[in-house]
Amino acid sequence: MKYTYANYYQNPKQSNAMHEVADDLFPTGICETAYQSITQWPDYKQTDLIALDDFAKQMGVKKVLYKDESTRLNLGSFKALGGAYAVQTVLEAREKTGDASALTVCTATDGNHGRSVSWGAQQKNIPCHIFIHAGVSEARAKSLAEYGATVHRVNGNYDDSIAECIKMADANGWQIVSDTSWEGYREIPTQVMAGYTVLAAEVIEQIEQQKESLTHIILQAGCGGMAGALIAYFWKHWRDNLPEIIIMESRMSDCVLESMQRDQIYLVDIVDETLMAGLSCGEVSELAWPILRHGASHVITVSDEGVKPMMRYLAKSEGDRPDIVGGECSASGLITLKTIMDNPELKESIHIDENSVIFMLGTEGATDPDLYKEIIGNKQ
Ligand SMILES: Cc1ncc(COP(=O)(O)O)c(C=O)c1O
Repeated sequence: MKYTYANYYQNPKQSNAMHEVADDLFPTGICETAYQSITQWPDYKQTDLIALDDFAKQMGVKKVLYKDESTRLNLGSFKALGGAYAVQTVLEAREKTGDASALTVCTATDGNHGRSVSWGAQQKNIPCHIFIHAGVSEARAKSLAEYGATVHRVNGNYDDSIAECIKMADANGWQIVSDTSWEGYREIPTQVMAGYTVLAAEVIEQIEQQKESLTHIILQAGCGGMAGALIAYFWKHWRDNLPEIIIMESRMSDCVLESMQRDQIYLVDIVDETLMAGLSCGEVSELAWPILRHGASHVITVSDEGVKPMMRYLAKSEGDRPDIVGGECSASGLITLKTIMDNPELKESIHIDENSVIFMLGTEGATDPDLYKEIIGNKQ
């Protein structure tokens, strides 16, 4: 079946002259400190970079490299690196000023970031409050409570849950540990993003070990925090040789594309929830925006049609690659590549051909176990 796309934007502002924006996001040493700290955590282990040779062959490209975050720190997604690390940095700062005992943290979440924050808080015995919106599944809510957090369900969408979290934090003196940023709130999300760059450092090492050279990187975006962090880190390493960056979004929460078209951050009102729950975010993170504006070459928005088939495809290998537990957001890279190859105008604009070496990120495993079982158990 041919995959269609909802919208495509080619970024005329893409430029590899990113010194200012990259240094503005990550001042010297911040990513190195995160790397040194996180790689000392007891459960830390590099996640696998898997060659999807069967998929590459079907798509007619040279290589597809899939980084599998399903095993990250036993939390099931790359988000484990960000929220928990930010909680640690908040605690360390409070310890220096002697007011750590009063610390309570809180955040709004679609699930994965909240799990990271509550896990980080639990390890340090810090009370934690998590705000989830009406569309977050019961299975995800339950897993948050397992890490000792108090879970508050809020009417409305993700952006409504952020508003409620801010209100409650102000009223109770709680510290927000958010993965997205806004005017006047940047320091903690910067640490969250610095945590994510551990995975970018691993990718660079793994690509070099495999003696590969990437031509394209596909990154899925919710608020764009992960994409912004990875692009900035990759740029600091590859500079003028930065591969072409393709941002993928759900058409139901296309805040990066809508913002790119207007050349400013634009709030999208999310009416329907995508199956890719982690991508359901209506506003680009203020920290990520300048990086995306300069670093991303293309933005593609798609419907949910490819999510289940690609999850099933990951689950059952056709060649000699291992079976992969890929949750809903992990289908993103495969959907994007197939969409590009199915639409000649995209293939041409994005310059993908038989020589392309493409990186994609499997951002999560079965983070909603009930839904995962329902999808995988039900073969096409
Ligand atoms: C599994 C997964 N993938 C991708 C994303 C998107 O990350 P960001 O919101 O930083 O763009 C999220 C966000 O929650 C997620 O949970």
